[in-house]
Amino acid sequence: MKKKILIIFAVICVIAAGAGYYFYRTQRNVSVGLNKNIQDENGKKGKTSLDSSKVLVVYFSNGGNTQKLAKEIYNQVGGDFRQIKPVKAYPKGNKLYDYTKNEQEKNGRPKLKDLNIDISHYDTIFIGYPIWWYTYPQIILSFFDQYDLSNKTIIPFVTHGGSGMSGTKEDMEEYLKDENVTVKEGLAVSRTDIEKSQKETVEDWLKELGYK
Ligand SMILES: Cc1cc2nc3c(=O)[nH]c(=O)nc-3n(C[C@H](O)[C@H](O)[C@H](O)COP(=O)(O)O)c2cc1C
Repeated sequence: MKKKILIIFAVICVIAAGAGYYFYRTQRNVSVGLNKNIQDENGKKGKTSLDSSKVLVVYFSNGGNTQKLAKEIYNQVGGDFRQIKPVKAYPKGNKLYDYTKNEQEKNGRPKLKDLNIDISHYDTIFIGYPIWWYTYPQIILSFFDQYDLSNKTIIPFVTHGGSGMSGTKEDMEEYLKDENVTVKEGLAVSRTDIEKSQKETVEDWLKELGYK
């Protein structure tokens, strides 16, 4: 009897894992595509109580969804706007999945292209990324390793395919615990909603954070 239950459980696990894998591969086309015209920008005035001269909105986006959300956040909070890019571009198509899984398993730290920032200028950093394999992409850890974030306020935002923030707020609190950062409640937007305007969603989130 016990054996039977174990076999049924194992079969359910295999089906669930397969369904998850299929889901990520087939749904990836939802991505809106990176917009090369969205350049790095400096010194925009924000529409919040934040001092925009001390705000950085920085994001990594491989397919364009997180970029779209980042742009809306930047439109509202102002400050400086930067895209995190790997020196070595991620592979396209199905190869991306095995490549990023492997990068995660090896706890890799892909090299970043120069962001042309002086991190000491900022006290508030909005950081965006897609959820990859239930957490942040390893390139976000490269960013954390490269920059001294001591005493800064970090505010994460993500796009995802169903996993929400995936505990990344808590993960970054733990990762940056020696730098005495304050990590605020993040914003998670599903990729299925990304084509809709995110104006109100971002406004509501900023209100909740006390910035509007
Ligand atoms: C390699 C890879 C792994 C992913 N893993 C997850 C995951 O674990 N959970 C989830 O909800 N979505 C996952 N997704 C979906 C992405 O988070 C989602 O499509 C996101 O909006 C992509 O953002 P981007 O267009 O800015 O790159 C994954 C996508 C890729 C390409």
